[in-house]
Amino acid sequence: MIILGIESSCDETAASIVTDERKILSNIVVSQTLEHKPFGGVVPEIAARAHITNMDRVVTLALKESGCTWNDIDGIAATTGPGLIGGVIVGTMAGKAFASALKKPFIAVNHLEGHALTVRLTDKVEFPYLLLLISGGHCLVMAVEGVGKYVKLGTTLDDALGEAFDKTAKMLGLGYPGGVQVEEQAKSGDPLRHHFPMPLKGREGCDFSFSGLKTAVRLVAQEIAIDNKIAAQDMRDICASFQYTVSEVVKDRMQNAFTLFAKKYASKTLVVAGGVAANQYLRKSLEVVTAKHDFTLVAPPIKLCTDNAAMIAWAGIERLKLGFTDSLSIEARARWPLTEIESV
Ligand code: KG4
Ligand code: ZN
Repeated sequence: MIILGIESSCDETAASIVTDERKILSNIVVSQTLEHKPFGGVVPEIAARAHITNMDRVVTLALKESGCTWNDIDGIAATTGPGLIGGVIVGTMAGKAFASALKKPFIAVNHLEGHALTVRLTDKVEFPYLLLLISGGHCLVMAVEGVGKYVKLGTTLDDALGEAFDKTAKMLGLGYPGGVQVEEQAKSGDPLRHHFPMPLKGREGCDFSFSGLKTAVRLVAQEIAIDNKIAAQDMRDICASFQYTVSEVVKDRMQNAFTLFAKKYASKTLVVAGGVAANQYLRKSLEVVTAKHDFTLVAPPIKLCTDNAAMIAWAGIERLKLGFTDSLSIEARARWPLTEIESV
């Protein structure tokens, strides 16, 4: 089975061709960094227009690089939510148009399910598993029981983790995209110089909260700046302290998640997915706490942590193999919780 995946829910226009034998034949990602950089973040209207401009080229390239022709494609999977609605509409319409013209099945994929199932493409992870999904819009702890079967154990009460990285970067003048910049700065900073608050640490359950941390970083940055400028080493120290704080919080919350998960499931696998899972420091911290609880940590390769269409194609394969397809009348959705996926 060969599936074309299409992703356009945020600021990447992506298309990929993947087989059910876990081969990624092509994986094209066109990022809109340059378009959004002047605004310090993703501008939804600009994103939607850029997706329209890039979509045909990206799909054509994905097909060409894969060595496939349209005849070889068994189905089209597109992200139909959640995300910035303009972009999601572009990908959904493109996917439906290809499916209709080719008379091939259309599979509506939830972007979060794409992230959640990536490790089954890369590492053949079996259900069930514990999932920590950390991206720009989400911070979720889930028990993944199967395709379309998610049980929520924890979530953020305010900001998503990627959002906390992005807002911190913006506040410090590091620009967009923020997470990578903060990680880079943190590499040569002192993680113990600033003692930022660790929201919800020590509390029951595995919910998260990051908005207080963001405020604390802003106060330190204001205090330390001279003429509104933060000296290079001060910048590195703030980033390192922020990243250290975040990973301490994540470790603490995940300790509770392991206990909660173990009450119902025998599996000992923790999967970390989503853009923030690309952070090496966080991955190392997670490895330590995971091993301490006799769990194994599985994380997709960095390139498949951040948004891509291979994960959408793979989710499409998983769904199609179970006989789940979608009507061409299905609509794009800005909001679509993982726990509300319908499988028909
Ligand atoms: O999954 P993703 O590509 O898009 C969404 O579905 O949101 O995640 C993007 C998020 C952004 O907030 C970005 O700053 C963050 O992932 N991110 C990182 C790193 N790379 C991307 N955060 C921390 N460290 C990184 N290396
Ligand atoms: Zn994502």
